[in-house]
Amino acid sequence: MQTVFRFAGVAILLCLNPCLRGATPADDDVARSPEKGYELLMSRHYTTPTMDQEIFDNLWRVWEEPDRTTAEKADASTRRVMTLSRYGLQEAPGREGGPPLQFGVKDGQWSDNCFLCHGGKVAGNVIPGLPNTHIALMTMAHDTHRTKQLLGRSMSRTEAGTVVVPLGGSRGTTNAIIFGVLLAAFRDLDLNYVTNKPVPKMVHNDHDAPPWWHYKRKNFLYADGFAGKGHRALMQFMMTPENSAQFFYDTEKDFRQVEAFIESVEPPKYPFPIDHSLAARGETLFRQNCSECHGTYGKEGTWPAKVIPIDDIATDRARLDSLTPPMRTWHQQSWFGEYGKKPVVADPVGYVAQPLDGIWATAPYLHNGSVPTLWHLFHSDKRPIVWKRTEDGYDQKRVGIEVEELTEVPSSAKRASQRREYFDTRLFGKTSGGHTFPDALSEEEKAAVIEYLKTL
Ligand code: HEC
Ligand code: HEC
Repeated sequence: MQTVFRFAGVAILLCLNPCLRGATPADDDVARSPEKGYELLMSRHYTTPTMDQEIFDNLWRVWEEPDRTTAEKADASTRRVMTLSRYGLQEAPGREGGPPLQFGVKDGQWSDNCFLCHGGKVAGNVIPGLPNTHIALMTMAHDTHRTKQLLGRSMSRTEAGTVVVPLGGSRGTTNAIIFGVLLAAFRDLDLNYVTNKPVPKMVHNDHDAPPWWHYKRKNFLYADGFAGKGHRALMQFMMTPENSAQFFYDTEKDFRQVEAFIESVEPPKYPFPIDHSLAARGETLFRQNCSECHGTYGKEGTWPAKVIPIDDIATDRARLDSLTPPMRTWHQQSWFGEYGKKPVVADPVGYVAQPLDGIWATAPYLHNGSVPTLWHLFHSDKRPIVWKRTEDGYDQKRVGIEVEELTEVPSSAKRASQRREYFDTRLFGKTSGGHTFPDALSEEEKAAVIEYLKTL
């Protein structure tokens, strides 16, 4: 009996602090489990369902020629491969042949999950938590809409919105930050849906998602490091009109599990040969030239979490300028920032020098995904003006994705969906200049540092 009382006393003491602050004690009691977090993302609806098997199987019917005829003549498995490839979707580990990794599935309905942008493949291997550098979100939204019309099916409010808001101008990147701004324009600080707020100025710019294995290293999230981290901040993507404020409060506990999953993601190992003596020389050069900003790696590694002023880093500034201090502060003052308890940097000066673990796997590089390989990052005057990736090609020589380099988007790419296959660095928000620090190294030194980066 006595033991029971003593335990009860401890529980009350432990609870006092969070309970007074309005947290649900039950949330804190639940053991955090990465497996549970993954399972939740794959089996629940956190956004309104937009897809199901019937729609998925009929998408090819709205494709342009010659793809439509090729798909029509193909067998079911070839058509599936074509469908996955067109939208940048992947087979879900353990659910191959079923709904792709990018959907939470319940009651036969498919809803977009975080893996839309945070689950991808490199050199053909699917990794949940890897940025999805294949995603073609705008093309998927348009085709889904047209397929629904063809099948006589109706659209949700969320879906109608995705057809008009620019979702991403080139494969592998999305306008995710600005959807956040738009969706927040219809929420009060408690996340109730409201329509009396002024619509903010939206400067659309596309972004390459960061890998989830960085999360555990960080206290502040995003390219400019503005937001203190926490499980509620992870839920912004759920602000679609159909989700009530109560739905956020009710599903908060799930995101403690999702956060546990994110924290469990580890960078994948480089799967090709490494020249270890060259890499060892590269490590010394890295410490001399790069560690000041990017930290050190290995057992005693430390990451300094530095934000480099925009004029020093000189990479594309659209992302930095597109969020205003009031937008950043709204996030922190709202339920997402625990009503101001989480820290915020309202007016950051530049971009975070990201950790470089698993860097081989996260090409293309820079926050806007404009530089296809490490070699290009190390040769700032040789970065391609326009490039197009291949499906699974990995460039072992230059370390990054295999690309075709061009100086123009070919005139044969007439439709918007075809133009989005090309990354055009002349477009707004997509410039590939800046970060010229590695240029100072000799050719031989560059090769050594690139070899070292393969080992992280
Ligand atoms: C439409 C694409 C998209 C979806 C869907 C999406 N994200 Fe993101 N996420 C991004 C982009 C892009 C960034 C980088 C934004 C920036 O740095 O400005 C990001 C950043 C993050 C970060 C910060 C990482 C860091 O290192 O700073 C976390 C954590 C994260 N997302 C988790 C989630 C979770 C959890 C979900 C699902 C509930 C989700 N995201 C859904 C695109 C997306
Ligand atoms: C003065 C600080 C600074 C120095 C020195 C520096 N970097 Fe960076 N690095 C940054 C910042 C900031 C970014 C992010 C820029 C962006 O995304 O726009 C970055 C980005 C990168 C990226 C791309 C990361 C990604 O996820 O896309 C790589 C790779 C990289 N640096 C490698 C190096 C190497 C190798 C060196 C040394 C030769 C080096 N950097 C020197 C600040 C620095």
